[in-house]
Amino acid sequence: FRQMKVDEDDFGLMTYDPAFTNTASCRSAITFIDGDAGILEYRGYPIEQLAEQSTYIEVAYLLIHGELPTKDQLDQWCQEITIHTFVHENVKSFMQGFRHDAHPMGMLCGSVGALSTFYPDANDIQDPENRHIQTIRLIAKMPTLAAFAFRHAMGQPYVYPDNDLPYPGNFLNMMYKMTELKYEPDPRVARALDVLFILHADHEQNCSTNAVRAVGSSQVDPYSAVAAGVAALYGPLHGGANEAVLRMLARIQTKDNVPQFIEGVKAGNEKLMGFGHRVYKNYDPRARIIKAAADDVFEVTGVNPLLEIALELEKIALEDEYFVSRKLYPNVDFYSGLIYEALGLPVSMFPVMFAIPRTSGWIAQWLEMVQDKEQKIARPRQIYTGERTREYVPMGSR
Ligand code: ACO
Repeated sequence: FRQMKVDEDDFGLMTYDPAFTNTASCRSAITFIDGDAGILEYRGYPIEQLAEQSTYIEVAYLLIHGELPTKDQLDQWCQEITIHTFVHENVKSFMQGFRHDAHPMGMLCGSVGALSTFYPDANDIQDPENRHIQTIRLIAKMPTLAAFAFRHAMGQPYVYPDNDLPYPGNFLNMMYKMTELKYEPDPRVARALDVLFILHADHEQNCSTNAVRAVGSSQVDPYSAVAAGVAALYGPLHGGANEAVLRMLARIQTKDNVPQFIEGVKAGNEKLMGFGHRVYKNYDPRARIIKAAADDVFEVTGVNPLLEIALELEKIALEDEYFVSRKLYPNVDFYSGLIYEALGLPVSMFPVMFAIPRTSGWIAQWLEMVQDKEQKIARPRQIYTGERTREYVPMGSR
């Protein structure tokens, strides 16, 4: 293709796709999405069935191993993850060094990257056993780092993992434990959180997964690659959207202000956060499930007044020509923030709540990539638009 030139200076034929809208960056057998039909499947299992019948920890196994586990395999998987939930004491000191008002997502990004220095063996990415132990460590330690970041933001002492508790219960205990007693969440809340984790576990080549794959293609250790994923997820157009939705709802203040806000969006003043998706040009199937999970949580916590504003936004937008013609529907982030707020989380923790379960997807994709014989270092080209060869001009002559 490089030989197909229109003149001497032409680089040759090349695809130009700056946001990868029409470029498949890899082959993958993990997650299937049909954005027009609103279908999402992990390893062939519809997201609706997994959200209804599975648990996050089982889904993590499915994403990584490709099949649902047997009872024994699941028991062993849970056991391995449970015994790796602790982090080195120096990780705690490292996190205590952040400013009192540090964004927990920044803390998570820094601390998961720092784990690579605690596990130098992680560099040996060609060894399957070594990859396995790093996989377990990452899934096990991410909730611990996330909870430490939360306690830091709250100015509260960090709570160590309690390995008698299941995965979501252990996380909630590290977040909310206030006395000598374990924190006991309402089972409906614990289940809603687990469903949210299932829904966020993977989403094929989204921005953060692409970042994990691109950085991982240099054969760096998985902690550094996952830190790149966390950094990508931090942005308001990706995992930061749930945080942006809540800020937007709070700014709108009342249901009556919704029509005026929508007019502002249509005039191009700002985006309706939590709406639109690069792939889904239909209702995001995850948004539908989250809406139901939100109802379960509100049964326990009482209805969040911002829900009324969200429902009105959705109602008006789904009937408005601007949104209909552009196929803009609520995405996964539109309702998830309302659940997180009901759980008493500050908005800055919302993207962290996304990063915890997405870790299993990132690692599944990383594992697939490092074993893919066709994968070379990700290194795109560019269309050069700058000056060509010129003579250097000495300072005095400029
Ligand atoms: N509000 C208003 N208009 C929108 C929105 C929105 N949320 N999203 C897209 N549009 C408009 C664009 O302005 C554009 O209009 P135009 O054709 O008149 O110029 C048209 O719809 C197409 O939008 P694109 O920007 O081309 O869509 P793209 O696929 O590049 O972007 C994205 C997808 C980033 C998700 C976008 O819809 C957006 O910014 N949404 C709000 C942020 C958000 O909710 N992000 C979370 C995504 S889900 C996730 O990451 C887990």
